[in-house]
Amino acid sequence: MNIPSQVRLIDVGPRDGLQNEKQPVPAAVKIELVQRLQAAGLKEIEVTSYVSPKWVPQMADNHEVMAGIARQAGVRYSVLTPNLKGYEAAVPDRPDEIVVFGAASEAFSQKNINCSIAESIERFAPVVAAAKAAGIAVRGAMSCTVGCPYEGDIAPSRVEYLAGLMKGIGVERVDVADTIGVGTPRKVQAAIEATLQHFGIDHISGHFHDTYGQALSNTLAALELGVWNFQSSVAGLGGCPYAKGATGNVATEDVVYLLHGMGIETGIDLDKLVDAGQFISGHLGRPSGSRVARALIAKRAG
Ligand code: HMG
Ligand code: MG
Repeated sequence: MNIPSQVRLIDVGPRDGLQNEKQPVPAAVKIELVQRLQAAGLKEIEVTSYVSPKWVPQMADNHEVMAGIARQAGVRYSVLTPNLKGYEAAVPDRPDEIVVFGAASEAFSQKNINCSIAESIERFAPVVAAAKAAGIAVRGAMSCTVGCPYEGDIAPSRVEYLAGLMKGIGVERVDVADTIGVGTPRKVQAAIEATLQHFGIDHISGHFHDTYGQALSNTLAALELGVWNFQSSVAGLGGCPYAKGATGNVATEDVVYLLHGMGIETGIDLDKLVDAGQFISGHLGRPSGSRVARALIAKRAG
């Protein structure tokens, strides 16, 4: 086992976490969430997306949110850009990294971004080229790498195929995403091993939703392979609008507790992170989705 001694967490709460909220969340709340996450020690934050506001109304305030955050040196702010239109809209807001997002499942690609996998790669290619020419980092999200809400189980060979396409257009690093949270450790490891055919371990991150309660086990399974980059969402916020029933990402608080308990460094202050989670949960009017946050809050109260 090559369990890493340090892990980098990318909090996707402001984007993946909030994109599916039915009530509009004010830009000021999103901005404060980003502030609180960076104050807690997060070095990477996925802030927003430049997608069609008809498809995902919650992200329509992308410019306002990006303009409102007080950037901290050493923090990477990333945004989702599905096509050139999204990329061109994002550039004036100076993201450090753009994310193109494809799927290992044809059906999910159609539902999520309205095109086939092959067409998505054609759309991404000029986005990736433009970003690299502008000195902006490029990440590729790979959805449905273990299961798809429309197609069921996804074979590792399909993950390998998508990873190869992403590599071919110049994507620098990829996320192995379990979009609907159906994965179990060995399946997730198979998806990561398929990705390793095209990307080195330093360029692979785990992105696990917790629908079936497997995300922490899957995180540990990824750690065992040496993965040291993970995406998670403060308070376990989230869900994808095109993956019905899928719940949020694994809670950042829960991952931090796991990692610190194993002696793995994250640079994150768990107490401040719990406060950030309380802030957004309070705004949304529901308890945190993080078991660790709930336990620590109960302990504080006691
Ligand atoms: P389309 O309808 O095929 O695009 O949508 P189009 O090029 O035919 O354009 C149609 C309309 O959309 C036009 O406007 C365009 O201007 C507009 P109209 O003339 O009708 O007024 N448009 C845009 N507007 C703003 N920004 C843009 C943009 N592009 C076109 N970038 C599109 C294609 C990708 C835009 C659409 O399908 C879309 O926005 N989908 C939303 C996808 C999304 O945000 N999904 C959630 C994020 S992915 C996720 O959560 C998974 C992840 O977390 C990993 C995991 O867990 O798996 C990353
Ligand atoms: Mg996701």
